[in-house]
Amino acid sequence: MSVSQSAVHLVSHLEHDYLRQALEHDVRTGLTSKPKWLPPKWFYDAAGSDLFSQITRLPEYYPTRRELTILRREALDIAARSGADTLVELGSGTSEKTVLLLDALSVTGTLRTYTPVDVDAVTLGDAARRLAGRYPGLAVRAVCADFERHLALLPRRGRRMVAFLGGTIGNLDPEAREVFLKELRNTLRPGDTFLLGADLVKDTGRLIAAYDDAAGVTAAFNRNVLHVINRELEADFEPDAFEHVALYDERNDWIEMRLRATRAMRVRIGGLDLAVSFTSGEEMRTEISAKFHPEGLRRELTAAGFTVISLSTDPTGDFSLVLAGV
Ligand code: SAH
Ligand code: TRP
Repeated sequence: MSVSQSAVHLVSHLEHDYLRQALEHDVRTGLTSKPKWLPPKWFYDAAGSDLFSQITRLPEYYPTRRELTILRREALDIAARSGADTLVELGSGTSEKTVLLLDALSVTGTLRTYTPVDVDAVTLGDAARRLAGRYPGLAVRAVCADFERHLALLPRRGRRMVAFLGGTIGNLDPEAREVFLKELRNTLRPGDTFLLGADLVKDTGRLIAAYDDAAGVTAAFNRNVLHVINRELEADFEPDAFEHVALYDERNDWIEMRLRATRAMRVRIGGLDLAVSFTSGEEMRTEISAKFHPEGLRRELTAAGFTVISLSTDPTGDFSLVLAGV
């Protein structure tokens, strides 16, 4: 083991029991609702995270490239304004874009600790080791946790910047988003900052293409939730019997992903002692990805008690990055 690896520290707030119980609860609730739905955070096992990484490189999936463009331009400024010694990143995944923030915070000379937070322990551990290798002086304290439940357990010391990138905020429904923003606000103290990446409303065709790529990677990602349920809850879903559906809901300004049964089916979920029937063509919702107007973002952040310091978009106006204080 190299010296740098000793700087990696992995804490888990997701004990196996917690994960299992939360999955059981969500799947039972979702599959016995009308219409049926499935909880999106369970997309991200190791296979799901890997498929998401592939999505970020697809020609149709613009958000990652647009957010990178803004970060390349703004990272030094953001780092200087934040003065952070601790970078906490929610839903960090592979932490690929984070390197720009870590580089910038190294230049300003304040950075001491990086705390990536993710539900997928495998991807989290890999990213933490990679970054500890790249930044020898950095203490990497990875936390496997659910940012909808465990915000209170995040590091309390130091001057913190909490980054929440990739438009993941759009995966929370509006009510959950409001709760999340308020809770996050209440964990921050004066001097701390929040860096939020959010996808913006745009041409519907481009939005849909980003969630329904020609190569079928997003379709595989969507179906992965069925593989997760088969494995974790001894179910017998046939993922290939479900079609990937992506549509844009213009009233709510969000992309909705669904899985559509291509024929009538009965599925057993052994671990829940539950059987559910699907009619041919029945759809269940698996994810939303909300899109924002800059004014709406400002309004929501202000309502949650944040002060917007800066709101930047990339030159095409596709994506936005907001730095907020408290
Ligand atoms: N930040 C990266 C990854 C975005 S994908 C980027 O911008 O490219 C969303 C990430 O959030 C995944 O890694 C997923 O595992 C994680 N995630 C989703 N719901 C979560 C939750 N409730 N708590 C913690 N992590 C979550
Ligand atoms: N945060 C990403 C987004 O909303 C996650 C994502 C990308 C996603 N493609 C997806 C989630 C497809 C579900 C299905 O853009």
